[in-house]
Amino acid sequence: MKRTGFALAILLTGIFVFSCDSMKNKSNQSAETDKKSRWYTEAQVQTGKTVFLKNCAVCHGKKAQGTNKSLAHGSKPPPLNGTAHAYHHSLSELKRSINMGGLSESGKMPKFKDLLKEDEKLAAIAYFQSFWSDAVYRKWQKMSRMK
Ligand code: HEC
Repeated sequence: MKRTGFALAILLTGIFVFSCDSMKNKSNQSAETDKKSRWYTEAQVQTGKTVFLKNCAVCHGKKAQGTNKSLAHGSKPPPLNGTAHAYHHSLSELKRSINMGGLSESGKMPKFKDLLKEDEKLAAIAYFQSFWSDAVYRKWQKMSRMK
């Protein structure tokens, strides 16, 4: 009788330690799962990198950090890496910016509507969003939902 009690205690301790352990793993994973549960795939980020370096980096910087390249009327290419305003715009608004270029009269970004394929535009967005922290990405999701 005593023996079974002892065995049971060991068993319970085992279960306890094991479940704490798996809880730890879970919380470690969730930070990763966040990046993985975004709308785009790693393949899109890779395609997007090629598109971005070829078409956008000259103004927005290789890592979408923005540049001081002064364009006419003093408009400057903003960072798209999550440190500026871009997360205020939903996916379709970001795509519209790419299609239409500078929306305002003073805007100096060229129109990419006919220069890039649809999947290339999306891939370019995936690329600059890959620099966004999870916190910025979540803010973006929230703001997009409110529209
Ligand atoms: C000739 C320079 C130039 C090039 C090339 C360029 N941009 Fe821009 N981009 C700008 C400027 C300047 C703005 C700010 C609005 C304006 O003045 O047109 C802007 C704004 C944007 C915005 C809106 C940002 C916001 O915070 O609302 C997005 C998105 C964007 N660009 C994405 C791209 C992508 C993707 C490419 C490549 C396919 C690209 N841009 C190529 C200069 C450029």
